[in-house]
Amino acid sequence: MITLSQRLQRVPPYPFVVIAQKVRELQARGVDVIRMDIGAPDMPPPPQVVEALYEMARRPDVHRYPGYRGTPELKQAFAEYYERRFGVSLDPEREVLPLLGSKEGLHHLTLALVDPGDVVLVPDPGYITYQTATLLAGGEMYPLPLREERGFLPDLEGIPEAVARKAKLLWLNYPNNPTGAVADLDFFERAVAFARRWDILLCHDAPYTEVTFDGYRAPSVLQVPGAKDVAVEFNSLSKAYNMAGWRVGVAVGNADAVAALLRMKSNVDSGIFLPIQHAASVALREVGETWIARRNEEYARRRDIILETLEHVGMKAHRPKGSLYIWARVPDGTTGDRLAEDLLYQAGVSWAAGSMYGREGRMYVRISLGVPTPRVVEAMTRVKRFFAVH
Ligand SMILES: Cc1ncc(COP(=O)(O)O)c(C=O)c1O
Repeated sequence: MITLSQRLQRVPPYPFVVIAQKVRELQARGVDVIRMDIGAPDMPPPPQVVEALYEMARRPDVHRYPGYRGTPELKQAFAEYYERRFGVSLDPEREVLPLLGSKEGLHHLTLALVDPGDVVLVPDPGYITYQTATLLAGGEMYPLPLREERGFLPDLEGIPEAVARKAKLLWLNYPNNPTGAVADLDFFERAVAFARRWDILLCHDAPYTEVTFDGYRAPSVLQVPGAKDVAVEFNSLSKAYNMAGWRVGVAVGNADAVAALLRMKSNVDSGIFLPIQHAASVALREVGETWIARRNEEYARRRDIILETLEHVGMKAHRPKGSLYIWARVPDGTTGDRLAEDLLYQAGVSWAAGSMYGREGRMYVRISLGVPTPRVVEAMTRVKRFFAVH
């Protein structure tokens, strides 16, 4: 008999695993389901990146264990990217740590730093991993409500002193999943000051800095002078270059946090396949802004198609300047859970219920832009039909 550890019992099954099961059952009954719940890019990576992987994988000498620290080439490529894109200088040896996707790093940094009873400040709604990592480490979550009236930014000044004193980590994420909100440098300056005042490690999770629309450019928290004293930033190639399945991310910034994360993760994993590290370096160095801009224009087209439909059916949503998501308020008289369930079973369109991201999300749904445009159009036809009879 298998008994789950108390640690794992604190964590519910991953919601997307639950949705995938429902979708499989519907598909087995012949239903054509359009999945707009999951935040994964549908378009391919730049061709020269795939080519670089292929070329290097053919070599006989690249299949050994790749080492724990990331190749000098990849660390240098991340450092150059931060310099070019944000004007942030990083020491590739002490302030850059390649990861097997950023999700791995979020978990391992939490496990490295959080003890039972420590408080972790997590956005609500927020990416689920901040919550589950905290629970697995035995920490206590203190939710920071992200509300429409504050532009989905947390009220840091409103955190009670007793909580701030016990807090070890503060998670932020802009452009934001699930709300699509963005933060400016002014907000990051206040966040850095808050972290400094209460001796908290500010963890900025920033996988959507290259997924932005209408000319908006997302800043890095490390642009704030002195941020490296108190902050670490996670970035990822998953969304930036449509490389979600490759599992390449990075932690940059505070050298002590980077060292703690390395100590944790080198006891768990054994590094990133060398040809993937090489191809990731090619992506960071050689893929120009034009490729990124074209890709983002496609997302923006989908965003506008969806927003037009939402307006048509009377649902309110902001026009996101970044991320892969539209965060839409459900009509009065229903909830996010109810609407997501009804839409899935009655229209074959899967949206993520906002409650998956925290209590504050109960009256919202999250709609992903990572769906081919013709399927977005088909989904919106179904949504209009669904609302016409409800
Ligand atoms: C906010 C946020 N952080 C981290 C991740 C994980 O990205 P990665 O593929 O780098 O693990 C995601 C993926 O959806 C995300 O939305």
